[in-house]
Amino acid sequence: MTLHSLDDDIAFDSVYPAEVRRISRRFWTPVAVATRAAHLFASAGATHVLDVGAGVGKFVLVASAVAPDIRFVGIEHRRHLVDVASRARERLGRDNARFKAADVTRMAWTAFDGFYLFNPFAENLYEGGDCIDQRVELSKRRLERDAARVERALRRAPGGTSVVTYHGATARIPGCYEVETSERAGTDWLRLWIRRCEVDDGSLFVEEAAGVVGRSKARPTTWRDGRRYRPSRASSTLAARCATPLRAATNRGDSRSPSKIGHRSSHAMSMSPSRSAASMASSDSSLRPA
Ligand SMILES: C[S@@+](CC[C@H](N)C(=O)[O-])C[C@H]1O[C@@H](n2cnc3c(N)ncnc32)[C@H](O)[C@@H]1O
Repeated sequence: MTLHSLDDDIAFDSVYPAEVRRISRRFWTPVAVATRAAHLFASAGATHVLDVGAGVGKFVLVASAVAPDIRFVGIEHRRHLVDVASRARERLGRDNARFKAADVTRMAWTAFDGFYLFNPFAENLYEGGDCIDQRVELSKRRLERDAARVERALRRAPGGTSVVTYHGATARIPGCYEVETSERAGTDWLRLWIRRCEVDDGSLFVEEAAGVVGRSKARPTTWRDGRRYRPSRASSTLAARCATPLRAATNRGDSRSPSKIGHRSSHAMSMSPSRSAASMASSDSSLRPA
């Protein structure tokens, strides 16, 4: 099969066996969303992108066709899904895509400058029948542990690192990242975050149903649908501390201000639990920055 049918999920999914196609709408990124996400990574200058929880590789396979100059790696903890992804990759002949079975939160993320998160850990909160399967540990404790590790990895990533989230990251985004774009895509919001600031003051962003909520000790900020972002005192302080822009940002000549921040649709598909998993994780004191 060739990628003639990028705009057609049913056609694309025919590369997969029936049991995987059956859960595609719920668990795998739609072709149009993966295409847009690939463009966002390309616009951010990413060269090595990690799909955090790759499933059967749908995001990686579509994005690697859309952005052939970017190398995509998908890490997935269910080995049988990695086998499916690898077979699809062979059929599609994508040299810039690779898959590996592992717990993505237990490996180093230093080889990557871009991260894709399609609500990877929310499944930990689902009732048995709603899960992909029961072959891995699923628990609230695990969600908190994995989300905390993601948060740490993002804090350690250098300036210019890009993160694309769809249906939220299921983890909090450190305050040293800025939302570059937030747009409707598929059944939820697709956001591009870029680390613009070396200083990590411990503040955080949580993707909530109402939009992106900034959590800082000084003053919380909420960005809602269509409203222009107006920095709070807390974020102004952060901006002042970032007065010397990162080279990665300057080189890109990108002076865009944080743009249209939207709220999630109340009709968002059930990937998003009513109370966001990131928010759930953030209420746990063990996840708060030291
Ligand atoms: C919502 S699916 C997204 C799949 C893929 N990224 C896509 O967009 O098509 C989330 C995937 O993350 C995987 N996952 C969750 N926690 C993981 C972990 N700690 N390590 C590796 N994979 C994980 C799940 O098994 C599931 O396949």
